[in-house]
Amino acid sequence: MAKLKVGVLISGRGSNMAALIRAAAAPDYPAEIACVVSNRAEAPGLGIATAAGIPTAVVSHRSHPDRESFDREVSAELERHGVGLVVMAGFMRIMSPWFPTRWANRLINIHPSLLPAFRGLHVQQQAIDAGVRLSGCTAHFVIPDLDSGPVIAQAAVPVLEGDTAETLSARILRQEHRLYPEVVRWFAEGRIAVDGVRATVAGVPPGATLLFSPEP
Ligand code: GRF
Repeated sequence: MAKLKVGVLISGRGSNMAALIRAAAAPDYPAEIACVVSNRAEAPGLGIATAAGIPTAVVSHRSHPDRESFDREVSAELERHGVGLVVMAGFMRIMSPWFPTRWANRLINIHPSLLPAFRGLHVQQQAIDAGVRLSGCTAHFVIPDLDSGPVIAQAAVPVLEGDTAETLSARILRQEHRLYPEVVRWFAEGRIAVDGVRATVAGVPPGATLLFSPEP
């Protein structure tokens, strides 16, 4: 069967993108990374994608008069590669409502908190400041509202005594790298259904879309 073509949107480091590239290298993985689009030419992730032989494009938000015209150019780039799923992986640009509407139910993001707790930026510090004992990451469909949209799966990690934003981020990131390739696999297998605010994964009970990995 033909593999699902995935377009990845990045702005920086690209470690989640790299995790997806690694997963997609397995012959039985049902998706392939068809292109990587960055809004920043200096994003280190672009070099990782190029080294893996994946076509990349830079669409600079600076060369667009408004959000929607930027979004339309990103979208055209994805269409050029026949993309069926758009994966945001550290894409630091707020899009106009046009983009999530154009890619409705085919646009996902990963966020380093257990949504709906801690939206926006510096969320690991927000979690530490709030004194929560658990945090983690959330893979969700993207809708026009920031860091909202049907949750597909989450992974939880403990917030430990003495954690800094850096140590907590690193712990969460290890789970992101496990979770995101799994979610893309489920999508490619046609197992994710969305009904209003709820996303369900066929063959995976809701409880099992929460992973918990205690640290040693
Ligand atoms: C990750 O923490 C992700 O959850 C957030 O941005 C960060 C991107 O990291 N949306 P990377 O570029 O994938 O390394």
